[in-house]
Amino acid sequence: MLADSFGRVATDLRVSLTDRCNLRCAYCMPPEGLDWLPAPEVLTSGEIVRLIRVGVSMLGIREVRFTGGEPLLRRDLVPIVARTAALQPRPEISLTTNGIGLARRAGELRAAGLDRINVSLDTLRPEMFRKLARRDRLPDVLDGLAAAVAAGLAPVKVNAVLMRGLNDDEAVPLLQYCLSLGYELRFIEQMPLDAQHGWKRAEMVTAEEIFAALSSSFALAADDARSRGSAPAETFLVDGGPARVGVIASVTRPFCGSCDRVRLTADGQVRNCLFARQESDLRALLRSGATDAQIAARWQAAVAVKLPGHGINDPSFLQPDRPMSAIGG
Ligand code: 5AD
Ligand code: SF4
Repeated sequence: MLADSFGRVATDLRVSLTDRCNLRCAYCMPPEGLDWLPAPEVLTSGEIVRLIRVGVSMLGIREVRFTGGEPLLRRDLVPIVARTAALQPRPEISLTTNGIGLARRAGELRAAGLDRINVSLDTLRPEMFRKLARRDRLPDVLDGLAAAVAAGLAPVKVNAVLMRGLNDDEAVPLLQYCLSLGYELRFIEQMPLDAQHGWKRAEMVTAEEIFAALSSSFALAADDARSRGSAPAETFLVDGGPARVGVIASVTRPFCGSCDRVRLTADGQVRNCLFARQESDLRALLRSGATDAQIAARWQAAVAVKLPGHGINDPSFLQPDRPMSAIGG
């Protein structure tokens, strides 16, 4: 098991497959992009699958989510998914993507064993997309979403981050759009994880504001059937259901106490939290010929020292050295 000193057990592994991305979302990266990891530092598909195998066969990992950067930029994504699906016990497999290129690959990903998908979509206006993500790719994202449904990846979830003065007037249209196509929308409070360190608490659109904006057009009822548990989204039935909307109040109502996640970066570092200030180097172990048992022991030690919470609301909070794109969402 991957247990920490506060009694939490990590069963959900998030694997960043690359720190690269073909968008430059304002809450994530500067327009010029970042210094990407040099290729030799990035884990190969064989190394990734070995670590996942250690996780599921020795450490109780039950869910694997592939993230980035943008995971669709990995040419070997489909074989990585297929090899993960062949592990025993087979984990649930999901993907968080910006949707660019998904239209072409949704079918093969589904066939390889992908169970679920989350696509980021923050705006429905092409010119706002160009401003927010700094690329003119809105139609690719919408096509990717449609392809995900066609491939049978239901329920397709959509992640939206609202930024004040940019897309904060789009909560209602985004929900209308997602309802009309059967996507499950979740809003995520913007977290201090941008490479530019530009996050300001006062500028963050809060879960409460999002709830209020949605309530002007929809009847939202707490969804008792889906208690929050370890899932970070608080979900609401929309207009009596069955459609739902989620709000992830990562900052204003942290869910660290029930966190069941552990992260692996594209360069093979275990992080016990998005906001951790320390990492444990599994890549060095792997490449020095360590046994599965030695890798598992290092991984357990990394999770054991997980802190009780992210501390964003403490005066002493320090943003992690690596941005979200290098950690994995
Ligand atoms: N705050 C909140 N969500 C973020 N994401 C990326 N950066 C941030 C941030 N600073 C979202 C992306 C994607 C998921 C991985 O996390 O939009 O949906
Ligand atoms: Fe790319 Fe995701 Fe960062 Fe946007 S949020 S720039 S899609 S990694």
